[in-house]
Amino acid sequence: MTAIHILNGPNLNLLGTREPELYGSDTLADIEAACRIRANAHGQDLTFRQTNSEGQLVTWIQEARGTADALILNAAAYTHSSVAILDALKMFDGLKIELHLTNPHQREAFRHTSFVSPAANGVIAGFGAAGYTLALDAVAAKLG
Ligand code: DQA
Repeated sequence: MTAIHILNGPNLNLLGTREPELYGSDTLADIEAACRIRANAHGQDLTFRQTNSEGQLVTWIQEARGTADALILNAAAYTHSSVAILDALKMFDGLKIELHLTNPHQREAFRHTSFVSPAANGVIAGFGAAGYTLALDAVAAKLG
């Protein structure tokens, strides 16, 4: 069974009420529920987590070594600032997918830089909540 860790960064706990015109009306719990249905359909073992803390994300990425086959990461604002997250990702040997609800390249210039992308096998961005289940589909396509 393919083990997948979906990690979510800062402010994603407020999805549903946070700038819904940008991020949509689904809560993170709604997204997790949709992911669990899709993961079951693919026969994937899913861990789904959120934190507002950069260090916690680094710790969870480290934990994924040896326990996860794939990592799906929406690092949120830390995408654009965190060398620590990039360094941690480099030590994870499994499939790495960078995920965003919005398309950062359509937004402010400071969102055009990603410290996650250099370590990611692929990027899914701009499809709103659907991007999460698309990322699970992508893992199934790559790893079965
Ligand atoms: C985000 C995009 C980031 O630029 C932003 O800081 C977020 C969310 C997204 O999912 O679209 O918090 O990662």
